[in-house]
Amino acid sequence: MLNLLKKRRSIRRYKQTPLKPEEMQCLVKAALLSPSSRGRQPWEFIMVTDPIVLEKLSVSKPHSAAFLKSAALGVVIVADPGISDVWVEDTSIAATLVHLTAASMDLGSCWIQIRGREHRPGEKAGDYIKNLLEIPEKYEVEAIVAVGYPDENKAPRTEKDLPYEKAHLEKFGTPWPN
Ligand SMILES: Cc1cc2nc3c(=O)[nH]c(=O)nc-3n(C[C@H](O)[C@H](O)[C@H](O)COP(=O)(O)O)c2cc1C
Repeated sequence: MLNLLKKRRSIRRYKQTPLKPEEMQCLVKAALLSPSSRGRQPWEFIMVTDPIVLEKLSVSKPHSAAFLKSAALGVVIVADPGISDVWVEDTSIAATLVHLTAASMDLGSCWIQIRGREHRPGEKAGDYIKNLLEIPEKYEVEAIVAVGYPDENKAPRTEKDLPYEKAHLEKFGTPWPN
């Protein structure tokens, strides 16, 4: 697990190769295996592979989503806040598991934040996506995870990258002895 966590990086350049059906299936399984508060599973996952739709999703917000147009897959993660008041946590866990499962298969992936972002002034990025993908009104969009075969190399994290000053022993301020 620690090796996978060190290997996982945000990959934003992808080869123009479709994912295999079994890779897509693994990513769906990872999402559906996510734990959720009280087991309420407030999330839904929309697996988008159509390049035309991915291009439209890549302009969901003005910055830091453009690379989605070259991805093989965008996993759009939404939830019904009426089912759980902690849907943000539930969807974030699911996004993390999709991201890690992609890394475990040597696929590149990157989280694209949608909740709290605007498509353009006065229009929520989530509303733009809901309109595009025919998502019912009651849902909120948390994030999109872009996935594809990596076309960039990023070094895995090493032990020396770990910010140990953020780890405390027994009470805040007592350094973790490492
Ligand atoms: C909650 C969250 C939101 C993020 N949103 C974006 C985003 O909208 N666009 C993007 O390119 N990267 C996004 N990222 C990726 C981060 O920029 C990346 O994880 C961070 O720079 C550390 O790099 P690493 O993932 O390679 O360790 C997001 C990551 C998280 C956890």
